[in-house]
Amino acid sequence: MSKITAAITAVGKYVPEYVLTNKELETFVDTNDEWITTRTGIKERRILKGEGLGTSFMAIKAAQDLLHKSNTNPEEIDLVIVATATPDLMVASTAVYTATEIGAINAFAYDLQAACSSFLYGMSTAASYIESGRYKKVLVIGADKMSSIIDYTDRATCIIFGDGAGAALFEPNSEGFGLKDEYLRSDGIGREFLKIDAGGSILPPSLETVKNGQHFVHQEGKTVFKYAVSNMAEVSEKMLTRNNLTKEDIQWLVPHQANKRIIEATANRVGVEPEKVMVNIHKYGNTTSATLPLLLADYENQLKKGDNLIFAAFGGGFTWGAIYLTWAYNS
Ligand code: UT7
Repeated sequence: MSKITAAITAVGKYVPEYVLTNKELETFVDTNDEWITTRTGIKERRILKGEGLGTSFMAIKAAQDLLHKSNTNPEEIDLVIVATATPDLMVASTAVYTATEIGAINAFAYDLQAACSSFLYGMSTAASYIESGRYKKVLVIGADKMSSIIDYTDRATCIIFGDGAGAALFEPNSEGFGLKDEYLRSDGIGREFLKIDAGGSILPPSLETVKNGQHFVHQEGKTVFKYAVSNMAEVSEKMLTRNNLTKEDIQWLVPHQANKRIIEATANRVGVEPEKVMVNIHKYGNTTSATLPLLLADYENQLKKGDNLIFAAFGGGFTWGAIYLTWAYNS
């Protein structure tokens, strides 16, 4: 019997309609289009507007896009994972609500939080369930409403992040397509450099924490940048060397979209040409858990069965890693 691998068999996406441009940012924070473009590669990002709409709103839409495009019956889904750093609510899982809303009535569901590496870790989790033979259809959704935790007077963070969601369905494959290798890392040294101080168990919400702006993301950009560049490059290169791949064997690099300069540094280290690097940071900014599945959805038409993809991500915690996956279908 041939080994069962976990392949991606469908993808979907959703981004909110509202476009926040660099020009609009210039009107309320001390920044400019030229600085943002040259330092990050971002031109605009999407923002979810509307009272009472949380991350699940986008996760549901991305999942529905996938179900519709692939003609998948939601009742056949075994597990729904929502990778997110911005759940709808504390305690009650965003994935559980999402699964119910999309009609995945036979699935169980839970959230997975690993900052910007959430979707990457989710891919590994999905693949493990499939490879073990325990489940047949695992839906992983990466979704974040970053605008809910951003201080729009802080130019160090508000120019970077955006809202969005992407989804990928994992199923067993016996032809050798799907997830081939992974190298996932984490290091608690990163805890101080990218975080929200209040609202967790260390510092519960209070009038004081709200007044001090401690419910917003705080990032020491330079430090995170330094770690991101070296670590994303290192794990990506490791995927090649330990699988005896040359740069010619790689059709696509799928890097987390945090900063165009980090993407370019990773691509240089792996040695792949710019045409082989998936990039949509100019349109969406950093959507945290949604960057990787949004790339897959945006590039789906160009992907061919048998293409070798290297995924790489880096995020708060620190969390980071790379995955080597072979694409399983022509769209
Ligand atoms: O996805 C999760 C992981 N996150 C990341 O990977 C993000 C990593 N970090 C970054 O992408 C970059 O560090 C940032 C984009 C956040 C910042 O870029 P930088 O090149 O590291 O800028 P910096 O913070 O070193 O600031 C350089 C200069 C400073 O001015 P001086 O001191 O040189 O006069 C800042 O005050 O740019 C200034 N600056 C800005 N100017 C205009 C900082 N932010 C802005 C801004 N607009 N928004």
